Formats: sequence, C-alpha cells, structure tokens
Amino acid sequence: MDLPVRKDFKTFNGEIAVPSDKSISHRAVIFSSLAKGKSIIRNFSMAADPLSSVEVCKNLGADIEIQENNLIVNSCGKFNYCSTSLNCGNSGTTMRFMAGALAGQDYGSVLIGDDSLSKRPMKRIIEPLKLMGAKIDSEDFHAPLKIYSAKLHGINYNSKIASAQVKSCVLLAGLNASGVTVFKEPYLSRNHTEIMLKSMGADISANGFEVVVKKSDLMPLDIEICGDISSAAYFIAAGMLVQKSEIILKNVGLNPTRTGIIDVIRSMGGDIEILNRKEVCGEIVGDIKVKYSPDLRGCEISGNLIPRLIDEIPLIALIATQAEGLTVIKDAQDLRNKESDRISATVEELRKLGAEIKETSDGMIIYGKSLLQGDVKVCSHGDHRLAMMLYIAGLLCEKEICIKDFEWVKISFPNYLNLFEKLKS
Ligand code: S3P
Repeated sequence: MDLPVRKDFKTFNGEIAVPSDKSISHRAVIFSSLAKGKSIIRNFSMAADPLSSVEVCKNLGADIEIQENNLIVNSCGKFNYCSTSLNCGNSGTTMRFMAGALAGQDYGSVLIGDDSLSKRPMKRIIEPLKLMGAKIDSEDFHAPLKIYSAKLHGINYNSKIASAQVKSCVLLAGLNASGVTVFKEPYLSRNHTEIMLKSMGADISANGFEVVVKKSDLMPLDIEICGDISSAAYFIAAGMLVQKSEIILKNVGLNPTRTGIIDVIRSMGGDIEILNRKEVCGEIVGDIKVKYSPDLRGCEISGNLIPRLIDEIPLIALIATQAEGLTVIKDAQDLRNKESDRISATVEELRKLGAEIKETSDGMIIYGKSLLQGDVKVCSHGDHRLAMMLYIAGLLCEKEICIKDFEWVKISFPNYLNLFEKLKS
C-alpha cells in the first residue's frame, strides 16, 4: 500500500495512550502458556507480531481466549506436540523464544517464518542451544528450524552480543535443563524476561550483565501490560519536531533497559518530562510530556546505550537531521539483522528526502540540520519501524512524499495513523 504524506494541520496537541508493549506481550503469552493454571493478561498488544506468539502457543495446546484487549490463558503447564509447522510470521521474538522453549521437549517441532524472518540469523540461538544438548537442523542457520527431542543441561554462556532475544531463548531452555544455566552479555539488554519469570516463581537471579536460572515450574501470571516506549517514540519525535506541539503519552513503560531514547533526547536538548512515575507488575511506568524543541543539537550514541534504544535508531537518525551539528551512531552493527538492514535502509531513504547522512559499518553519521525536501517516493523495505519513521519524516518535508509498502506498520502498531489523527489541530 502506498501512503501519501504531507503536513495538512498546524500542530500536534493532546493526550493519548500508546499501544501495549510488544516485547512484554510476547513474554506474557509464551510464559503463561508454560504455567500450570489460569493466567490473566490485561492490555495485550493486538499487533501482528504478538498475535504470532498467540497462534504458536495455541497450536502447542494452550487454551487462549481473547476478550477485547485481554487474554485469558489456561495451560497444563507445558507445550504439547504439534504435528504441523509453527508459523512465527515476521516475528524474530516468537521464533527465538519458542526455539528455547521447545529445544528440551520429548517431541520434535518445526518453526517457520515469512520471507524476512527466514533471512534473519538464527546461529546466535542455535549455537548456545546445541551446547545445552539441543538437536536442531536449519538451512545454513536460517529458518525453517527443525527441532528434535532432546534432554538439555545447563551451560555457562558468554554471549558476544547484547540481545534480549538470545538471552531469553537460553533462559527458557534453562528452565527445562538439568543443572545451572548462566548467561552473560557484554551490555545489559532489555530485562523483561528476568522480571516476569521471577514474578512467576522461577529460580532466576540477575546480577549486572549475568543471569542465572535453574530448572523451574512457573506459576500463572496476572499482569497489566504498560504502553510501548518503542511506539511512544514516534509521538515523542513528532512532538519535538512539529512547531508548537505539546503531547502527553500516558502509561508508558520506562524500564531503564528501554529508555535510551529519552536519554538521547535530553542530551540533544529536547523538551521532555516524565510525570506520575510508578511501578506496575514489576515494571516502571509513567507519562511522558514532550514539547516542540527547536534548538536540538547532535550527539554521539554508542556502547551500552545501543541495546537501550536498538529499535529507535532509524527514528533517532531522522531526529538528528533536525539537530544542529554532527550525530554519530556507532556499535550498532546488529541493526543490519533486523526486519530490514536498518543501517542501509535508513541512510538510503533519508538521503532521498535531502538529509546529509553517511553509512558506516556499525552505524551512521548525520550532518544536521537539513531541510527535508520531499516530492519523492520512499520505501518501508517491508519494515514497520522504517514505515513509521518515514511518516514522521513526511510531516517535516516541504512537499508531499509517498511511502511504498506502508502496510507493514501492522507488525507493531496497526492503529498508528488513527492516533496521529487524534492529536492534529
Ligand atoms: C526484542 C529484543 C530486541 C528488539 C526486538 C524485540 C525482545 O532484539 O530489537 O524488537 O522483545 O526481546 P535483539 O534482542 O535481537 O536485539
């Protein structure tokens, strides 16, 4: 679907709730399906990716009822054999988590995905799972993943990358393995898995960049999921970049492993404030107030900040085009392995609009401030985060743009355009 975008309003003003956190939604449905009894998940994300996790869990025997935005999950405490392939759609989180959960079963499973997911690297999970005793066949470390029956044992694993998907895969396998499983990462990636598994009674402890887990049964979950900061980010950018705007985003997850975007915006001179900070179901939650910020300046983004804003980097690149001076993004080579190669796709599309931006092997360099021209067709590269970033870019352009394949927004945020409509004045 082609979406024409042009600024047909004056400012963004008002208060909205952004959709439920996608990462926490995946975890909630998968972990509940592994817990014996009835779990209640309020404010579940109904985007395509978490719904892929729902479908896979249903196929493995979990009884899942959807009531508006809530899920009621009834499970016997484990997954059961499924004779057909388990389709993870576009969702890397579903595939990597399920590989961990299924590797130590006494039956086999096959995980498949769409074209994009079938091109994404699975070596990062196959390697540690095999060290734990898993038997997995793949085509050159890509999906489909054929997982055979195996008995797992704990390992002491030093991950080269800070990835919450890899960490969660190994921890889920560890729940079903003999002995102790220790996972270390170079920087702290999002820790929703550790928080949720602990709340469900797992024998798990985290210390710095290391997590230790032992074989455990899970108790059912009763959770209210907060808003997704990775979805809120687009409204934060719009509020800062569109003249005279002022937006309040209610009830957004503020887990420190996810709030790198807020730190970056502060160091760029953006006007952003957190209100009503509180803890809900083990996660920090608050309201975000953002105002038009005309005097942004560039900054450097690297090292331990990268996992804290990994999904926001295409958007940060756009913000940097509107900031005075240089923004350098380094240590982000894993962005090339997302739903698209987000380094080259971001550089290619922003350049079409008139940005001065250079691709590097592990990131990009943006020379601000640029006047974005528009009058051009850009492309989402089949990537929801690119589609949403390009929409904001379109609002900043002098002339109309057209976004090719905008429909990919459904992966994390089906209601994206409607929420923006609500804020226009
Ligand atoms: C996710 C972790 C991140 C992120 C993805 C969701 C998760 O991936 O990019 O959108 O829910 O654990 P990596 O762990 O591979 O960096």
